[in-house]
Amino acid sequence: MTMYNLNNNNNLQEIGKYFIETFGCQMNVADSELVAGMLQECGYSETEDLDQADILFMNTCAIREKAEETVHNRLDSIQHLKKRNPQMLIGVLGCMAQNLKDNLLETKPFVDIILGPDSYRRIPGIIKSRNGQNGHEVDTRLSKFEVYEDLLPSRHEGVNAWVSISRGCDKFCTFCIVPFTRGRERSRSFESIIDEVKDAVSNGFTEITLLGQNVNSFRTENGKFPHLLKQVAGVSGVKRIRYMSPHPQDMDEHLLQVMCDHENICNYIHLPLQAGSDRILKRMNRTYSQNEFLELVDTIRRYMPDCSISTDIIVGFPGETNAEFEETLEVMNRVVFDRSFMFKYSSRPGTKAAEYTDQIDEVIKQERLERLIALQQSHTLKANQRHIGKVLKVMVEKESKKSPTQWTGRTEGNMGVIFDKNGEHLKDIVDILIQNAQGVSLFGNRVLDKELVDEIN
Ligand code: 5AD
Ligand code: SF4
Repeated sequence: MTMYNLNNNNNLQEIGKYFIETFGCQMNVADSELVAGMLQECGYSETEDLDQADILFMNTCAIREKAEETVHNRLDSIQHLKKRNPQMLIGVLGCMAQNLKDNLLETKPFVDIILGPDSYRRIPGIIKSRNGQNGHEVDTRLSKFEVYEDLLPSRHEGVNAWVSISRGCDKFCTFCIVPFTRGRERSRSFESIIDEVKDAVSNGFTEITLLGQNVNSFRTENGKFPHLLKQVAGVSGVKRIRYMSPHPQDMDEHLLQVMCDHENICNYIHLPLQAGSDRILKRMNRTYSQNEFLELVDTIRRYMPDCSISTDIIVGFPGETNAEFEETLEVMNRVVFDRSFMFKYSSRPGTKAAEYTDQIDEVIKQERLERLIALQQSHTLKANQRHIGKVLKVMVEKESKKSPTQWTGRTEGNMGVIFDKNGEHLKDIVDILIQNAQGVSLFGNRVLDKELVDEIN
């Protein structure tokens, strides 16, 4: 690998190519964009062709065993690249690096660097000092302060910009590895977040999604999450704002009021339920009861009757009885979530729940998952059908895969809508009369007459 090259204008010339593959949550997508920004500063440019890469990073996830298996398989499948190009720098970043560094060092000796989520600042230094030499670099120390405040990410072109506002988690749900892989919760300053939002807007992004492991427990001396949301809503050019993922415990009416007060904050909340039974919720350390969750949903709908609500649910948590599983279905029937992300419980060594002796059989977990998925499918259809005959605000996102004469856009509730082109531009927000709902998509037609929109709604 060559070093930096300055051309006559003192600009950095490209000295190599990088390829980053990202697994897991949006937080990882945002982190990969940060790392991409650093690599570009070092003179590297992105390639989508693995064979062309001088640097190959896998940004990994440890949330479930399956996520780890995927990364192991992927690493095995790229091993041959290193044989062909011994100079290639292969790195494992993210939660799995944090969690499995010893295992990786032992089983994947071709991996050169292993960096946990708080160690990415070391990347430029490592690249410079390697200078073509091989040898392992491992840094998985967690920080109480690192929020990558001053770094700007390099994003792929698109509509939505992920903006990470806090890192880590202090909730310690008993099933979850995140507090161990990502460390203590810490918030970024208002100033750096607003600067990043402005930068994203100036680069053509019209939708901002604020990210945090517990996004609504964000707090700084200048204010809490609702204050931040208000400020982001005031940045000119921000057409839509979303946030992910809030914890039910930290939802309050101030936040709901701010959502109501600003048209550019989407009427959409991803509200992880995890389980419906009080005993299981307690064992999960989720800090709310079934009733409190249901009351919260009622409050949300009192403020925003048309608010879309999605959720995360785990089946087969240790000790979950059939009757307790039925309670999860009951809560789903009461709420009718627009969408659910549903998972079989996966034991994570080091977490409290992994020590419980009453683990549930895989066959039972699978059966429960299938029942959950079937119920959610019917609810998604029902939730989508409630839009038929209404006019929804849709942001134009891309040409439809089905036809070059149609657009695909998204509703505030994050639902895909397909409609005929009619002089719109990408990133416009247009009024679409919903005429049909099939599977996960809605279909409609543009309504140009504003008075008609008011009449229909
Ligand atoms: N097993 C299964 N699902 C899990 N999640 C977190 N930890 C586990 C686990 N050990 C799910 C939760 C969380 C989502 C991001 O992943 O539902 O909200
Ligand atoms: Fe994991 Fe719970 Fe923290 Fe979410 S709130 S990251 S589920 S420990």
